Amino acid sequence: MEIKNEIINARVTFRKSPIHVLERFTFNDLTNAYSSFRDNSGLNECVILQTCNRVEVFGIGNQTDIEKIKKTWASLAGLEENAFLDNLEYSKGKDVFHHLLNLTSGLDSMVLGEEQILGQIKNSITNARENKWSSEHLNTLFDKTIRVGTRIRNSTGISKGSISVGSMAVKLAEENVDDMKSKQILLIGTGEAAALVAKSLKRRGYAFSVSSRTIQRSESFSKTVGGKPVDFNEILTGLGKYDIVFVATSAPYFLVTFERIQEALKQKSGGIMLLDLSNPRTVDEKVAELNNIKLMNIDQIAEMVDKNMRSRVGQKNTAEQIINEELPVVEASMKRLEAEPIVKDVFKNIDNLRNKELQKALNMLGDLDDDKKKIVDELTKAIVESIVSTPMNNLRKETEQGNDDLLEAVSKLFDYKKKE
Ligand SMILES: NC(=O)c1ccc[n+]([C@@H]2O[C@H](COP(=O)([O-])OP(=O)(O)OC[C@H]3O[C@@H](n4cnc5c(N)ncnc54)[C@H](OP(=O)(O)O)[C@@H]3O)[C@@H](O)[C@H]2O)c1
Repeated sequence: MEIKNEIINARVTFRKSPIHVLERFTFNDLTNAYSSFRDNSGLNECVILQTCNRVEVFGIGNQTDIEKIKKTWASLAGLEENAFLDNLEYSKGKDVFHHLLNLTSGLDSMVLGEEQILGQIKNSITNARENKWSSEHLNTLFDKTIRVGTRIRNSTGISKGSISVGSMAVKLAEENVDDMKSKQILLIGTGEAAALVAKSLKRRGYAFSVSSRTIQRSESFSKTVGGKPVDFNEILTGLGKYDIVFVATSAPYFLVTFERIQEALKQKSGGIMLLDLSNPRTVDEKVAELNNIKLMNIDQIAEMVDKNMRSRVGQKNTAEQIINEELPVVEASMKRLEAEPIVKDVFKNIDNLRNKELQKALNMLGDLDDDKKKIVDELTKAIVESIVSTPMNNLRKETEQGNDDLLEAVSKLFDYKKKE
């Protein structure tokens, strides 16, 4: 009889697959994905984590089989099975616990320590729990690793501060401009770099306008990432309306020229802060010579990102150290879960027997008042408890330490049948 469960994780992430490849592995219909994994891949419990940087399946079963998982995944995503060759990573047992601890603490993120992943993991487990796709094992594993991840973030400060060029640019603007919430902010560009800026602005609650050569591109950017779309030609000749301008385009010439900024300054009383994320530059560096202009280019922004990264190396080491200390604790809790169904079953069966014998004895004793009945009841409970507790606690301890022989022996002794 197979009584042991095995936890697995199959994943396609940004580490091996660029975003456009990763997209092909996503599940469009999560409910369907969950039931397919349960019905066709031998998983009794399942949690799916799907973000723009990763698609991951966590599962548990007594007969987990990567080939079945790949087959199910391929059919859900409409892929050939060989699509997984260079993209899939697969872990089992302790490695899954380690991976999940890395995830919850932000060590496996593209941007070290980023916060978003923790919320995404919480949403995934909440959704799985509510729909009963996950149960005791994965719920326990996720709850514990989320707790450890949160503690690591709090105690190491790994999540503090900004780190992408986009959020660093926003941070620099905040450091250089007073009361940024009251300022007019413009973002020129609607590509990847602009999206980093937009996300950070949005996260920090700043309203902003966005502009791209084609208004349709600004409009769709505004719908998906944020910002108020504005006409490109208008902004180039009307930069004076803005106090902070982020520029992130791949134009091969200066869009923000010396003359345009000179004109802009005439239209306003205060100054303008310009943050040029473009490489090559799209803001003419000469504008920095003008009074009331602050300019930061991509090299300066990237240098700050680097500095921030370097200061995190120590935090990363501390986080890894905590993970290594916590890993055996998580592992022990998960192993202990293997003993729980047997322990519960044994207690339940013995309690049924106790009750049966108790009723017989009470019938033989005839009319007893409630106090006396209670004494007899408690006596039987105490006898059962004192006989069964020690072996059951020993079973728990041995299972925690990975001694499966005792688990096998106890299940044979007590005729335990695993419920599917
Ligand atoms: N991606 C990053 O993580 C990153 C990081 C640091 C720096 N950068 C730099 O940021 C700049 C943009 O990179 P990206 O990755 O965001 O590129 P992208 O995704 O290809 O987007 C390019 C952007 O530039 C605009 N654009 C292209 N040619 C233009 C022109 N002649 N005049 C006006 N706008 C023009 C495009 O809008 P339209 O199509 O509407 O013109 C689009 O908004 C590059 O200089 C890059 O080196 C990027």
